[in-house]
Amino acid sequence: MTYPIPQRNRRLRSSTPNRGLCRESHLHPDQLIYPMFLCDGHGQQQPILTLPGQYRWSADLLVERCAENWEVGIHTVNLFGTSTEKSPGGESALNPDGMVPTAIRALKHHLPELNVQSDIALDPYTTHGHDGIIINGRVDNDATVDMLQKMALVHAEAGVDWVAPSDMMDGRVGAIRHFLDMHGHIHVNILAYTAKYASCFYGPFRGALETAPLGGGLADKKTYQMDPANRREALREGRFDLAEGADALMVKPAGHYLDVIMALKKSVDLPVAAYQVSGEYAMMHAAAEKGWLDLDAAMEESLLCIRRAGADMILTYFAPDMARKLNSPS
Ligand code: PBG
Repeated sequence: MTYPIPQRNRRLRSSTPNRGLCRESHLHPDQLIYPMFLCDGHGQQQPILTLPGQYRWSADLLVERCAENWEVGIHTVNLFGTSTEKSPGGESALNPDGMVPTAIRALKHHLPELNVQSDIALDPYTTHGHDGIIINGRVDNDATVDMLQKMALVHAEAGVDWVAPSDMMDGRVGAIRHFLDMHGHIHVNILAYTAKYASCFYGPFRGALETAPLGGGLADKKTYQMDPANRREALREGRFDLAEGADALMVKPAGHYLDVIMALKKSVDLPVAAYQVSGEYAMMHAAAEKGWLDLDAAMEESLLCIRRAGADMILTYFAPDMARKLNSPS
């Protein structure tokens, strides 16, 4: 029996070179950003139980690890600090000798070429674990923005290349941009968490930073992070962040939000970042540990699909592993 039409789609899938010619999306180490966690002290590399293969680094060992990762092509890191001096107002976020500014200075001193980003949010510094200051039982937007712009300045003065506000307060991108410019930091980029969803997939991260929000009427972050049901709202956030001076827009989490990545990419002509979060990473690790998934294959497919959806850059805990794999494909 003859096949009824001349077109046969399988011809283009018939060999590795043919598949290569037709491949629409690619992964490259240039596109990967490695989120890294910090701790105080010297010679510290503390394993994070909820994130296999991830650690909290003291500044000295952070520098060493970043130097190794540079060799495999990881040229951008995103730093997350924490503090033992938590307070309701999160004031320790402004300490110029805190974990994050100290790490930024160490990295810029030893690895001046490394592109260093820092998280801007109060949750590691507040006793209640929220990303903002609580006034009259609410996470107060404007008082929080006031803190965030000061925090961004502390990091800028330490030499950071990008600040990444992850808090979802209204107007914080514009406020940070204005405050940085006013102090002469016109060259510091802003990576805006444009569409950060109130997601359960941050669970392992909150374990890493001990930032799970406490109970009461404030048991979750739904008054500032977005409803997972919404996509148009992400486009509105994107328009605001563009107008406020963001340099790139982020969608977070990534794997379950591919439609949002695609929609944002089409609607705003800024680079789009996607954050493959702790829960996405931990799920793949846990399944692989049970022998139910091939971790290497899951890593590559998940990241490639985030690229296919339109992400220009991806924050992922797999960054060094993925870069190594790209350097020596099997
Ligand atoms: C909070 C913040 C979170 C993450 C990055 N910044 C968690 C939260 O919103 O509670 C999550 C990262 C991850 O899960 O990998 N400012």
